[in-house]
Amino acid sequence: MIELKDIAYVRSGAADLRTAVDFATDIVGLELVEESDGIAYLRADQRHHCLAFVAGESGVISSGFTLRDLDALSDAETELERAGLTVKRGSKEGAKSRHVHEYLAFEDPFGNRVDLVVGQTTTPTPVKFNRTAGITEFGHMCLDAPDVDEAGRFWTTHFNAKVSDWVTGAACLMRIDPVHHKLAVFRGDRPGLCHINFQVESIDDVMRSWHFLEEKGVEIEQGPGRHPQSTAIFLYFKGPEGLTYEYSYGVRRIEDDAAWTPRWFDPEGPGAIDMWLGPKARVSTQYQIPARDDATWD
Ligand SMILES: [Fe+2]
Repeated sequence: MIELKDIAYVRSGAADLRTAVDFATDIVGLELVEESDGIAYLRADQRHHCLAFVAGESGVISSGFTLRDLDALSDAETELERAGLTVKRGSKEGAKSRHVHEYLAFEDPFGNRVDLVVGQTTTPTPVKFNRTAGITEFGHMCLDAPDVDEAGRFWTTHFNAKVSDWVTGAACLMRIDPVHHKLAVFRGDRPGLCHINFQVESIDDVMRSWHFLEEKGVEIEQGPGRHPQSTAIFLYFKGPEGLTYEYSYGVRRIEDDAAWTPRWFDPEGPGAIDMWLGPKARVSTQYQIPARDDATWD
């Protein structure tokens, strides 16, 4: 059993690095930490970065999770190889570029690239947000898979992830700590990153951002609305390179695992996606860049 301690980052390829960075800072509100060797690092909390844009092919490169220590990393390598997955130890350069001590990368059964990292650099100074969007932290990541039941089985069999709720055939929402979900898998034809989430301080932040985004002509993909599963008030919007961002506020916490039974929601049922009955079209996905050679794993 591989114990995921936290989410670490999303690494995403940007064909137009400048536009991607400008959007992440001026619109989303993140701090640009540094830009070097064609990689821009963006920050929302104590993590060195939660989003890295790599100049080049457009698409998601990998999604990172934190493990406790190097023993846990070795054990994870063994377990994933036993499961028949392609696992690669990260190079020194790869670790440096990710601002982690060590890492490994694997492809999940659906083709999503995942990094397991140890020692993500912590930055103790306050975040210099570019806009007062009210962001408190990097909240969760959502991947795509054609079969969410299988995806749920994968993450709960090999990892400590627990299913918090299902949207039947459409989504599996999983927790790795008391937060209702830090990892979700949505149904999609191809591997990819459905969205990256940032928690904000209040409902006022969500609503203020909604007006701000509309004023700036940003495409609102869904919301404002409220998910019945997590009770979070959400707003999804589309950034450059097809990357969907989400602000949300008020996510449910599940403190007592034994007392919680996952619920099943009919995606066609009233209010199953949005309790406020807003449009429920699925948000778009930034597709996975396939690993073609060693270089693309770095
Ligand atoms: Fe989300």
